[in-house]
Amino acid sequence: MFTKIVKYRRNFLEISNFRRKFSTDTISKQPAVVLGIETSCDDTACAIVNNNGKILSESKYSQLQFHLRAGGINPIFAQELHRLHIEDVVTEALEGANMKVTDVDAIAVTNEPGITRSLIVGVRYAKHLARKYSKPLIPVHHMEAHALTSRLENPDLKFPFLCLLASGGHCQLALVKSATEFLLLGTSIDSAPGTCFDRIARALNLQAVPEYRNVSGGPALELAASKSSNPNRFQFTLPLRDQPNCQFSFCGFRSQVIQTIDDIRNRLHLPRDEMIPYYEDLCASVLRIVTKHLLQRTQRAIHYCDRLGAFGVGATNKLDRTFVFSGGVACNDFIYRAMNEMVSQFGFKSYRSSKRLCTDNGVMIAWNGLERWHGNEEFYRNLDIDSVLPNSFTTLGSDHTELVTKKRLKCNFVKVPSMMCEDEIK
Ligand code: KG4
Ligand code: ZN
Repeated sequence: MFTKIVKYRRNFLEISNFRRKFSTDTISKQPAVVLGIETSCDDTACAIVNNNGKILSESKYSQLQFHLRAGGINPIFAQELHRLHIEDVVTEALEGANMKVTDVDAIAVTNEPGITRSLIVGVRYAKHLARKYSKPLIPVHHMEAHALTSRLENPDLKFPFLCLLASGGHCQLALVKSATEFLLLGTSIDSAPGTCFDRIARALNLQAVPEYRNVSGGPALELAASKSSNPNRFQFTLPLRDQPNCQFSFCGFRSQVIQTIDDIRNRLHLPRDEMIPYYEDLCASVLRIVTKHLLQRTQRAIHYCDRLGAFGVGATNKLDRTFVFSGGVACNDFIYRAMNEMVSQFGFKSYRSSKRLCTDNGVMIAWNGLERWHGNEEFYRNLDIDSVLPNSFTTLGSDHTELVTKKRLKCNFVKVPSMMCEDEIK
């Protein structure tokens, strides 16, 4: 037993050290096909991708409708649903590509971070396949995979780039130097923007409106906000306004908004399932504040990267620096437009993947597997499958958040664009 633990630890260290050392800029032309499995949260997903970025097939079972009815993600139910569907999802992906497991070069699986019970299902199933068919297993960091997906659709997207990852579980700013070298510049000190949107949408009972019924809180809130006639009707406080770092916070803001909703209900004697008046304006205010928070932290990260000389000197006016926005919240067009407008003022060209690849999917895991596989086949062929363990709370790359804070960078923040484009004003 003890020997086994020591062995696990040694292999775990090997993987971590390797993750730091290993570096590749362009995907090699050596043909390779990887099957990727994702079960870190509430999507059971699988995809088969080749080294040219061609998606040979993908399949996904989303638990969204179940969790929407239950009022949030319950890890026990999530695990059960992953267990029920994993085999079918993988089989569907293989059939879609007209392949067998024996035809792929390696199996990639999300092993960190995420909901432990959910991660366990994917990792176990991937290990089972790897053992049964003697295939190498590539453990994948979920947030790194989100960050690198854009390279699949944009082969011209080169390292280094600045990346904002915003999802239901995370909010992180990172300087991505290679497929495995990440400098973490900022991270959330509490919750994440996706969860913030989901909870506020639930408090507003947006689900009662047919057009918002079948989507998660983020898209529902974005759609409701687009119908606002007065985005300034509600005023909320900007999180961490006076803290000169790149950290994020959403819990205090979320409580402030939910308190406002409760106060209105109490004042008007409205039951919990009734919509409050001007709820679309409230959604617009929420979206504006979250956008402003994301923009300010990102702008400071740009200044920090400039101090580091991360993108070379004098490159600011030519859009020859790269910014990537990814994670489920990157599906939000208002935030993306605002981000694009802000970063372009600092010489950044922005990228985001197509929306279906911004949210959790199997393609990003297979692609990350490929980014790791090339030139390192031997390492993964020799990797002890038993050493790959689910790890729910890992951070991203090397932590620069304290260094960013110490710089106490002052910023003249650029303006947040208007909520409504001219042609959208009703
Ligand atoms: O990356 P993802 O699929 O799963 C996690 O790793 O968390 O992100 C899901 C989150 C949900 O909280 C969802 O509400 C949010 O992304 N989201 C959005 C939009 N589409 C999805 N948030 C804001 N606007 C959207 N259009
Ligand atoms: Zn995700």
